[in-house]
Formats: sequence, C-alpha cells, structure tokens
Amino acid sequence: MAQRLGGSIGRDVADDTFVVDGALSNSWTMDGDDLLITLPGDTHEIGIDTEIDPSANSKLMGLYASNGMLCTQCEAEGFRRITFFPDRPDVLSTYTVRMEGPADKFPVLLCNGNEVAAGEGDNGTHWAEWHDPWPKPSYLFALVAGNLVARRDTFTTMSGRKVDLAVWVREGDLSRTEHAMESLKNAMKWDEETFGREYDLEVFNIVAVSDFNMGAMENKSLNIFNTKYVLADVETATDGDYDAIEGVIGHEYFHNWSGDRVTCRDWFQLSLKEGFTVLRDQLFSADMGSEPVKRIEDVRVLRSVQFPEDSGPLAHPIRPDSYREISNFYTATVYNKGAEVLRMMRTMAGEERFRQGTDLYFTSHDGEAATCEDFVKSIEQGAGLDLTQFRLWYSQAGTPKVHLTLDHEGDTATLRFAQTVPPTPGQPDKKPMPIPLKLALFDRKTGKHHGEQLVILNEAQQSFSFDGFAEPPVLSVNRGFSAPVAIEREVSSEDLVFLAEHDDDPFARYEAMQDIVVRHLCATLAGSLDDAQRNSGRQAIGAAFSAVLGDAKLDDLMRGELLILPGESYLAEQMLIADPAAIRAEREGLKAWLGQTLESQFVDLHERARAVPGGTSAEAKGARKVKSQALVYLAAGNPGLAARTASAQYDAADNMTDRQGALMVLTSLQTPGRTHKLLDFYNRFKGNALVIDKWFALQASSLHPNVLEHVKALAKHPDFTLKNPNRVRSLYMPFTGTAQGFHAASGEGYRMIADLILALDPLNPQTAARFVPPLGRWRRIEPGRAVLMRKELERIAAAPKLSRDTYEQVTRSLD
Ligand code: BES
Ligand code: ZN
Repeated sequence: MAQRLGGSIGRDVADDTFVVDGALSNSWTMDGDDLLITLPGDTHEIGIDTEIDPSANSKLMGLYASNGMLCTQCEAEGFRRITFFPDRPDVLSTYTVRMEGPADKFPVLLCNGNEVAAGEGDNGTHWAEWHDPWPKPSYLFALVAGNLVARRDTFTTMSGRKVDLAVWVREGDLSRTEHAMESLKNAMKWDEETFGREYDLEVFNIVAVSDFNMGAMENKSLNIFNTKYVLADVETATDGDYDAIEGVIGHEYFHNWSGDRVTCRDWFQLSLKEGFTVLRDQLFSADMGSEPVKRIEDVRVLRSVQFPEDSGPLAHPIRPDSYREISNFYTATVYNKGAEVLRMMRTMAGEERFRQGTDLYFTSHDGEAATCEDFVKSIEQGAGLDLTQFRLWYSQAGTPKVHLTLDHEGDTATLRFAQTVPPTPGQPDKKPMPIPLKLALFDRKTGKHHGEQLVILNEAQQSFSFDGFAEPPVLSVNRGFSAPVAIEREVSSEDLVFLAEHDDDPFARYEAMQDIVVRHLCATLAGSLDDAQRNSGRQAIGAAFSAVLGDAKLDDLMRGELLILPGESYLAEQMLIADPAAIRAEREGLKAWLGQTLESQFVDLHERARAVPGGTSAEAKGARKVKSQALVYLAAGNPGLAARTASAQYDAADNMTDRQGALMVLTSLQTPGRTHKLLDFYNRFKGNALVIDKWFALQASSLHPNVLEHVKALAKHPDFTLKNPNRVRSLYMPFTGTAQGFHAASGEGYRMIADLILALDPLNPQTAARFVPPLGRWRRIEPGRAVLMRKELERIAAAPKLSRDTYEQVTRSLD
C-alpha cells in the first residue's frame, strides 16, 4: 500500500534520504510536496533525513528563528515543513526527540514531555533527549532552543502530584512574568474544581516568543506564546492586557484536556477543541473577575466580529464543510460562535448536568481523535438532553433572527416569536433551530418580576402565554445573551428605559442601554426622524446615561460597560447597506452631545475616579476604566478641556492603563499636546516592542482626520517591519476600523490594505490573508465605496503567485 507523507520542506529530496528497516530505500516517489512510499505489510521502521533553514522561514510555520532562538509552530500543518509525515490530527504517536547544538547560542533545549537525558558533545555543543509519553498528533509537537531564563514555581495537583512550572523568556523580561505564572496556577486549580481535570505530566513549560502568527499554542506540556500574552508589569501593560494574558494562559492550559488528551479527528472538527476551550476560558475569566462584565465583553466581540462574518461572503458553519486552506478557518465563527453553541447546551442542561456530559466526553474519548458528533452524543447521554434538532447549529451558518411581539389581553401576556436563519453562501434554505431564550416579565409598578424563565423556540413560529398580569408587563428577553441571535422586537423606548434602570440581570441592563442607542442611531441614519424627534431621542439617551453616571450602587467596572456606545461595525450590521462615514458622524455627534450635556457629571466622575488609590483590586481597575471613558466623552464634547485633563492624566500616570487611556484621547485630538505626548511615549518606551506596538496602534486607530497620512508615514518608520506579525497587526488592523482612513471616499485606504496584502503575502500568507475580510465587506457598503473595495480585491486576485491562504479569501469575497 502506498503511504502518503505530507511535506513541503521546500527543497529537493536527496537520494540517500530514506532508510527503511535499516537499509537505504528507493521505493518512494514525490507527488507535489508529498512523499509516497510503497511498502509490503504494515510494520516498518522508516528513517528520513531532512535539512531545513529556520532563519529563512518567514511564514513562521514549522521550525523558525525568532530573536536568536529557534522554535516551532506546527498547528495546523506546520510539522510537514520540518519533515515528511502523515501530518493529520488523527495520527497519534509518541515522540522521542534528541536536540543537539552549540551550547553558547542555545543553552536551553526544550521539547514536549520530560527531559530523559542530556550531555555535552565536541566543540562546545551539547544535547538533550526528551520523551513525551502521551500519544499526540503532530500538530502538538514543539521544540525550543535558545538563550532563555525561567520563572519557576510548582503546583500540586488534586491527587497530590507535584508539577514543575516554568515560564521561559529572554533575560531582560523575567520581571514581567509574575502575572503569567499566577494565571497558570489559577487555571490549573480552576480546571480541577470546575471540570474535574487534573494535569498529567511532571513539567509544564511556557515559552514566550516575539515573532508569532497567533496568540499562543497548546503544544503538549510546552505551550508557546506570543510575548504579548505573557509579559506584563503595571508600567507597560494595561488592565486589558492583564485580563487577556489570564484568559490566553487559561485557554492554552485548558487545551491539555480539550484538545490534547481528546483531540480532533480532522480539521473540520476544529470547533470541538476551540469552541469548547473558548467556553472554558470565558468561564474561567468570569470566575476570576466579574461575571457580568466578562459576559458583556464576550458578547461585544461576538457581535462586532462574528456577526459580520456570519452575514458576509466568508460565512461558514461552526463545523465547516469545505476549505482550501485550514488556516483561514481559525475564525470568530469556529471559536466564538462555537463557544456560544456549547454555552446554549449548558444553559439548557444546567451547570451540573452539563458537567456530567463533559465528564462522559472526557472519559469516553480520552486518547482519541474525536468529532463534534462525539461531543454532542456525550452531552446528550451525560446530561440527558435530546439534541437531535440542536445539531443544526453545527451545520447551518448565519445568525438567526428572532422577531417577537408581546400582546396583553385580560390578565394574559402572549409572546409571539418568528425565527428565520438568513441564507449564506452555499446554504440558501435553512431550517428552524432550537433557540433557548431566558426571559422575565416585569411588573412596571413594582419594578419586579416573578422569576426568570427559559423558553426554547424550535419552530419557525411559536407563541407562549403567561397569566397573572393585570397590566401589560415589561419584557426582558435573551437575558445573559442565552442565544447568539439577533432579536427584532417592537418595544417602546419607555420600556427600554425601564429595563436600563430596573433589570436585575446586569447583561439585560446593558442590552437595554445598547438597544436605546442602536434604535436612535439607526432611525437618524435612515433619515426617519425630524429635528424634534431626534432631540427627544437624545434626551432619552442622555437621561439613561445620567442615571448610569449617578447610580451609586453600580461598580465602576460595570458602569464602564454601560457607558460604551454600540460600535460602528455593529451599527453597520443593523443596516442592509451602510455608509461608514455617516455612521461615524452620527455616532460621534451623539458622543459630543452627551459630552456637552453631561459635562459636569463626566468631570465629577473623572475626579472621583482619580482619587481612588491604585492597585489591582476591582475597585481600582474600575476607577481606571471610567476615568478614561470620561475623557473620551469630554474629548468629543469639549476638546480643549479634554486635552488639558488628558495631558494631566498622562503626566500623573504610574501605570499603562492611565497612560494609554490619556494618550488615546490626545492622539484623536487636533491639539499641540498630541505630538509632544506621542514623542514622550515613544522615547520613554523605545526598545520595548510590545509598548511600541501600542504606540503604532494608537495612532492607527485614532479619530484624527489625518489618520491615513499618519499610517502612511508610520509604515516608513524605522521601527516598522513586515517581518514581525505583531507590528504589522498593530499598524494595520486598527486602521481597518477607521471610517475616515480605511473608508476614505477616495479609496486610498482600501488601496493601502490591498498593497499591504500583496507585499505581505509572499512573506507570511497566514497573516496576509487575515486582512482580506475588511475588504470583503463590500456588498454591505454604500455603492461608491463598494466599487472601490471590489476593485482592490480584483487587483489582489489578479496577482501572480498568490498564496493559497490569500487566494481562497479573496475569491470567496468576490464570488
Ligand atoms: N490552537 C490555537 C493556536 C493556533 C491557531 C494555531 C491557529 C494554529 C493556527 C490556540 O489554542 C488558540 O486558539 N489561540 C488563540 C487565543 C485564544 C485565547 C483564543 C489565538 O492564538 O488567537
Ligand atoms: Zn485554542
């Protein structure tokens, strides 16, 4: 039988490369990048020599050099760039690895599992041999060689086994690893307590590298991380960075069970490990901090990134049914919607029964390469749910729309629902899906409800009646965002104001605030309001904001969430065709009006928050959050005042949260302090790559009218390079969110991103392809700009030698 070994080591294969059962073999042929070997029987020992050049590896897949060290990234198909191999996730093997090299350049040699032997060789070389007892797919293979130092600690597992922990970084970075280590220990403990999962080796290593395509990678016992998700101290990392580090450390650690012990049969099942692990990291972060605030943040990401994906040309189900390049399918849909789908199962089953389902999944598939179907079956059996119809969530793309009305007659309230799942590429017709909606009906006099209910919609149209309401109740629906759907409802603004004030579900309270603003902005943008109506809409929003600003019972972390206006991309999502400039103008106009109308309240808030002592308590974090928020509104309403206050905040800052918040505001203003403070920031932190990334990102995301010129100039800055993915993303990703830059009516912003894609594609296709989706939104943008966006996509498509990654994204965006 011919055995196919995937490979793309990028060089000719020498004749003496293959040894079969100890003898040179010529029973092989090449098929493109793959190697075919024909062998009798089924047990042989094969030896393959390959020679690779890590320093020429700009794709950062396989074995590559970063900052003087060597490291690997194998998921999804990087192992074949190291050697020929049946590089598929269902091929599980045990690995013994011997590394050898110059001891001065590579004093530390790490691999999966345990170090079993080490020694010195000739001419200053040394070697180490590692063995990983757990069978694993090749995508979880990793090795690292370099001049690294470690923060060490230990963790004792629930059964009393001691695990040696290490976070490896470059020498000068050691002082910035404390939070990562704390997060790791918290994650290990949390997984024991919450999912009953214990760690299974004597060592756990994390290595931070500065050139990395993704955030981090869960290689068995040797997690490799982007420095961005490891290094932190108060002077250089924001509260948001601290939270992100905790979440990503948790995520990769949790993969040890949801990904490594139970892996994926094929890459169509990616959501099996990623959706599940995102749910696990979300629950972990919620338990480490504020549950409602975490939920609001997660929903905001889902709506601003995944909803647009689900309604655009790249829409796909959480379990895709086809792909050309798997790297393109590490998407918000597979990850975030995947997590939402599992969360719905958890909501329907209840926490305890869901846990019985996951226990069954882990024990019955331990050591296997499993499927999404295996997971669903385990939940069905373990939790006692019938998920027959629910499986549609795995195969149907598109965000369901739920239309609802509330009627009241006698003392009965009737809720009528109609659900539709919109057509998506390749899926014109959809079936109704089970949609679990948590709801409550409030008595408008007492401000109370009679208990939260869970209704599960499973037909195209359905109604539910509730007795005992002498007056029409106020409906609070999709509480806690129990289902990832878009609710379309007829509701008065009085009811929304009621919910914004009275709802006891913090998420629902946030939702009501968002709803009030979304409705108002959409109506003004549609031109359906006269001046008086527009003014009364603003008054209602102003009253709700004023209540939030003055509510002494709210903690500041939550207050900060309630003060965030719905984002431009979420607003665009509400319209069939969006005009980015108009959305920007209307949203900024409202912000300015709020800043002016509530100026004294924002000034008071800033002053009160400034007086809160620093530190890492929730109170201190909340104070920092609202401080910068207050500045944002003041900047819109009273730029002169804001410039002075922001400068003072910048000068007084003893932490990056305050400093970045102030600089963000200044960067968006046309004030002389702008250049001065940007220069100060640069000089203060030059040489610290992660902070210089912030310096690029702040300027590229700014509201400043000249953002396009700024980004053009920054691309020529000596610190800019296409070779480092963090740097590329810092400059260009925030830019794709600028209405006045990316969406400049001239088309220059689109051209800039297309030029970037073309320049980056030969170096790092995976990162290049990630810039295609912003251009791919053209069908939903007003026609003048849509033509220009399309033109850029066509220009990219016409380029010779496009990577598979970029080609797939561009052609799907044009289809
Ligand atoms: N397994 C992925 C890393 C990965 C992604 C490798 C794509 C190859 C291709 C890892 O577990 C992951 O999901 N990382 C996320 C961060 C996480 C917190 C969502 C990432 O890198 O963005
Ligand atoms: Zn992951």
